[in-house]
Amino acid sequence: MTVPIRQIRSFVRRQGRLTTGQQRALQELWQRYGIDVADDSLDLNTLFNEPQLVILEIGFGNGESLLSQAQAHPQTAYLGIEVYQPGVGRLLQRLAQQQINNVKLICHDAVEVICHNIADNSLDGVQIFFPDPWPKKRHHKRRLIQPDFINLLVPKLTTDAYLHLATDWQPYAEHMLAVLSAQPDLINCAPDKTYYPRPMHRPLTKFEQRGERLGHEVFDLMFQRTS
Ligand SMILES: C[S@@+](CC[C@H](N)C(=O)[O-])C[C@H]1O[C@@H](n2cnc3c(N)ncnc32)[C@H](O)[C@@H]1O
Repeated sequence: MTVPIRQIRSFVRRQGRLTTGQQRALQELWQRYGIDVADDSLDLNTLFNEPQLVILEIGFGNGESLLSQAQAHPQTAYLGIEVYQPGVGRLLQRLAQQQINNVKLICHDAVEVICHNIADNSLDGVQIFFPDPWPKKRHHKRRLIQPDFINLLVPKLTTDAYLHLATDWQPYAEHMLAVLSAQPDLINCAPDKTYYPRPMHRPLTKFEQRGERLGHEVFDLMFQRTS
């Protein structure tokens, strides 16, 4: 099914300067960990060596959470999508240093990748931690979490797969809760049907620590695909 992709992007291409190490990692390690996406569906089963579960992380930043989860669960396959090249380079360096083999990376707009390259019923979990909140009202249209994007994403989940979001921006948390609660194929796993208690398996990133220092409360949302 071809779904129209919105033209407004959820990111601004930051040309953060690549360190020499990151540049070298992109040149030397991309073949081992990277996936160049074209128009066809990715066969996640051939990308990974017989994974039990495939988890997708969108907007992994520097990859701290992806790295620590991949280390903790070597039998699970992790696919990361991020547009920020220095972050990708940094994670590549660490993956190689730690000899991690259950992670693959895509450096591209996640909306396009979900639309064109991810097969239906292929993901056992999707996590999106601290997506850019775009706090100004005129920028709200840039927020990644929108009904169209969630409607595109949900069919990619297997039945019972989870969708885990986190943010430290309360108005965005409220927006996320409204969007996910309105999606008919998702149920909220939180006992009170609002926010989920912070799961211990979500690693604390530098980004979150900075939010904590600024006194920001963190909101986790945990939903599951029902059918
Ligand atoms: C605020 S940062 C959070 C990074 C990380 N998840 C963390 O918790 O530290 C949001 C990240 O999402 C990435 N991003 C935003 N929109 C994206 C998209 N459509 N596709 C891929 N990455 C995206 C940005 O480049 C940025 O690195």
